[in-house]
Amino acid sequence: MNPLLVNPGEEFARIEQDGRRAIEAATTLEELEAVRVQYLGRKGRLTLLLRQLGQLSEAVRPAAGREGNRVKDLLSRLLEERARALEAEHAGAAVAAAVEDRTLPGRARWRGGLHPCTQVTDEICEIFRTLGFVRGRSPEAETVWYNFTALNTSLDHPAADAQATFYLQADAVLRTHTTPMQIHVMQSSPPPIRVVVPGVVYRRDPWDASHAPAFEQVDGLAVDEGISFVDLKAAIAYFVRELFGRETKTRFRPSFFPFTEPSAEVEVSCTVCGGGGCSTCKGTGWMEIMGCGMVHPAVFEAVGYDAERYTGYAFGMGITRIALVRYGIPDIRLLYEGDMRFLEQFA
Ligand code: DAH
Repeated sequence: MNPLLVNPGEEFARIEQDGRRAIEAATTLEELEAVRVQYLGRKGRLTLLLRQLGQLSEAVRPAAGREGNRVKDLLSRLLEERARALEAEHAGAAVAAAVEDRTLPGRARWRGGLHPCTQVTDEICEIFRTLGFVRGRSPEAETVWYNFTALNTSLDHPAADAQATFYLQADAVLRTHTTPMQIHVMQSSPPPIRVVVPGVVYRRDPWDASHAPAFEQVDGLAVDEGISFVDLKAAIAYFVRELFGRETKTRFRPSFFPFTEPSAEVEVSCTVCGGGGCSTCKGTGWMEIMGCGMVHPAVFEAVGYDAERYTGYAFGMGITRIALVRYGIPDIRLLYEGDMRFLEQFA
């Protein structure tokens, strides 16, 4: 016989008691959901019972209805509370487990890294440090005198032309090379001098695969009594072997710079093909990496050094270019666009 028809109040009380117990006993959200279905689902115990209320007599139906709805509301609320408690417990357990498991490998997070040009700069300066050179800095904005005149470069020189130089004012420019550091260094200290100065230089160059209006250079200067071209060659040959590897060959070709005499261009055997000829060295087997020479007496004169007593050598190279060759980067713009997908590779 249908229990409701005998004593609906008692049946609702039983459902309430069983339901409470089942909800309390559920230890996972899945179990809890099963309990909900069992009592409140479409074919749940309470649902079925409530559906039968219509069969009750007018006299008992309203009271039974109220009781049924009370139990339904109660169980719904208990289910919700239990669900919240289980969720919290679950989250707490996950945190506790994470704290306790000290064998879990740490989560690697990329914290940034040094730009490839910075890495090459540091390497270059480090090699010269082992030869006794200190690392210095020099202004990016210069007067025409520092950038050109004191370096024995007349304003007729193509480099001084407005085509290649960014003028800030009639007499001020963004340095077109790091070479003016020679003047600052010699003005502020007496010989002996051994210094390298890296930095950004500016030229009105196009923005394409091999040119940028701002790029990096490093200049070096050594001044003392009795310094000769042999010292220059030895220092550069050592530097090339350290930077590019023992097997790399160096050669000096006569060249011209206003601030050195004699002047030379340094070429190294192509680090990509080893000298056989490839696209990087344009088939020649050699790559030009720097300019150098013996400090011109006119430069010593400009800073008040005694050119009879002191001699020195100087060199300058494009760091950006060395980075391109070193890492096989096909387009200089990659170095200056700040694209993380590119930069991450050098971390
Ligand atoms: N300043 C030259 C340039 O930008 C490079 C250079 C050549 C620097 C010879 C020097 C040097 O110090 O001695 O092309």
